[in-house]
Amino acid sequence: MILSKPILLSAVQPSGNLTIGNYIGTMRHWSKMQNNYECLYCIADLHALTIQKNKIHLNKSILDTISFYLSCGVDPQKSIIFIQSHVYQHSQLNWILNCFSQFSELLRMTQFKIKSNCSKKINAALFNYPILMAADILLYQTNFVPVGQDQKQHVELTRNIAHRFNSLYGHVFTLPKPLITQHGSKIMSLLEPNKKMSKSDINKKNVIFLLDDIKTVISKIQNAYTDSETPSKIYYDIEKKPGISNLLEILSAITNKDIDILLKELEGMLYSEFKNIVADHLSKFLYKLQKSYNDYRNDEVYLKKIAYEGAMKSQLKSDKTLTKVYDKLGLIPLF
Ligand code: TRP
Repeated sequence: MILSKPILLSAVQPSGNLTIGNYIGTMRHWSKMQNNYECLYCIADLHALTIQKNKIHLNKSILDTISFYLSCGVDPQKSIIFIQSHVYQHSQLNWILNCFSQFSELLRMTQFKIKSNCSKKINAALFNYPILMAADILLYQTNFVPVGQDQKQHVELTRNIAHRFNSLYGHVFTLPKPLITQHGSKIMSLLEPNKKMSKSDINKKNVIFLLDDIKTVISKIQNAYTDSETPSKIYYDIEKKPGISNLLEILSAITNKDIDILLKELEGMLYSEFKNIVADHLSKFLYKLQKSYNDYRNDEVYLKKIAYEGAMKSQLKSDKTLTKVYDKLGLIPLF
């Protein structure tokens, strides 16, 4: 008997502006995950439309994002990479799930509360955003969804919608679970290590972008905030030493070494020596990543071929679920 692997779906909004925080929290795990799961990697371009309305920018960001997936080790022979808007089943199931979602539960979504507080002009899609996310997940009978803390609530909502549907119509959807990584799921700002590193930070010295040039990376690390304490000592304590702990998280993620092991190697070092080590590892790592990224990014024919093949495979898979849903609801499937 061949045991099939659990299904994992990961999605990011297209953005060329990814940070080392995105890499460490999310993308770093992609290549390893392919061995343990049947992976689908989605580029959530329809989600991006809730905010992004610039044609050239969106178009470019989608191709940038496919290049990032590939340069982080996602192998299109093992996994499916696809663009959300190419798989019409997502929009279709989105509408149907709208009919099984409560206004009140959407109002409770923290991300919506935050986003709607920032602006007076809020479009309806921003409110319905988590339902499209539920469609992304449920179409593939997904078992696991790797997400940061901020998206966990959306996966829980997805479970509730799926459970509600299944209770009415029998088993149609698999209930997905969020997969949250422990260390490194939250990389903090370099100068203000009490807040999360964010690509939209106005102070760019707080953020390391994956495409920053290497000199800039070195200088950003050297200027990073280090907690004052005399005599200076390197140890991990998020409360007392948020700056040092953040640099340790970064170093641990890119060297693949546990923090305990790193601490032994770093014993007795000055902050400046420690920072040189972080800067050195990080710049070598980014140099390699950028080289691979640029090679893919310069080959748009290849990127479009990957997207086409991914769309064909995803359409076949997702249509199985959508046909079941049509059937249960009394809609008439096409075939
Ligand atoms: N909303 C997610 C984000 O902004 C992206 C996303 C869209 C997603 N669809 C998804 C994440 C499905 C996980 C599963 O980060």
